[in-house]
Amino acid sequence: MTAHTRGKRGTPAPTPDEVGAMYDQYGELLAMTLGSSAVHIGMYVPHGGPAPVTTLVGLADLAQDRQTDFLIDAFAPAPGSRVLDIGCGTGGPALRLAERTGCRVTGITVSQSQLAHCQERRGAHPAGERVEFAYGNAMELSHPDASFDAAWSIDCVPHLADRPLGLREALRVLKPGGLFLLTEFTSRGTPSEEESAAYETLWTCPPLTTFTALLGDIEETGFDVVRIQEMTANAVLCSELMCTLYQDRRDEIADRFGKEALAHTDPLMGPFRSFSRNHLAYHLVVLRRPTA
Ligand SMILES: C[S@@+](CC[C@H](N)C(=O)[O-])C[C@H]1O[C@@H](n2cnc3c(N)ncnc32)[C@H](O)[C@@H]1O
Repeated sequence: MTAHTRGKRGTPAPTPDEVGAMYDQYGELLAMTLGSSAVHIGMYVPHGGPAPVTTLVGLADLAQDRQTDFLIDAFAPAPGSRVLDIGCGTGGPALRLAERTGCRVTGITVSQSQLAHCQERRGAHPAGERVEFAYGNAMELSHPDASFDAAWSIDCVPHLADRPLGLREALRVLKPGGLFLLTEFTSRGTPSEEESAAYETLWTCPPLTTFTALLGDIEETGFDVVRIQEMTANAVLCSELMCTLYQDRRDEIADRFGKEALAHTDPLMGPFRSFSRNHLAYHLVVLRRPTA
């Protein structure tokens, strides 16, 4: 596979198989604290009118759907166009994208349990016939050059051991002029080793880079930048809600996943929370493959 260019602290960056195994093992636990409409950051700010929800989990789901809709509007693929969803999670955003725009979506993930979840959702969904899901690695796409009109990758890029390779692969499979929407987590300030390690362990990701480093990777790949939007408040609020729901549902988590899951997660929550509050940044980036 790839050189693990983003690994630090003496350990190699996680492989796609390790990332997939984390989602296989903790996907259901994540859904209990993050929401289950998607596996991405929810949109808490701006939040418009009062939310028609009565529980924190309901709010998390609503916020995820809002975020998915916001991202759909941000790149609005044409009806009938072919879109690649890189790191499709449990399939909710791909199906919503196909339903709202009339495009065709191919979603890939490195988690077998997510893939099973995607297939189940697809079968029951009105836009299911225009969506397909498969196992696939963002850093080694199996698709031919210029085979998609557009692509998106929501909250997946931070997992990649070699981000430039992932960006080059996205560029390769896009047709000239095609848009690539991605969301990326970066770090700000100087987090402690403990805070950074907690974040990386919980999300099975290499150390986060700065936003400037992300821009450098994008420039090197050869994409044109169409839009950048800072959305850090949503990521911070989402992490806060995850920590609150984790604490609230701790007994339920112990019953469903065993004391082992608590032993893994409990010590990470404090430093994860302070990393998210003080050192996390989150951006939406829309790129275009140049036409020449
Ligand atoms: C935080 S989840 C986001 C899922 C989905 N995009 C959503 O918004 O609900 C990250 C996703 O990236 C996928 N992923 C991580 N590394 C990957 C890789 N190397 N290739 C393909 N998918 C990957 C994971 O399997 C997971 O589906």
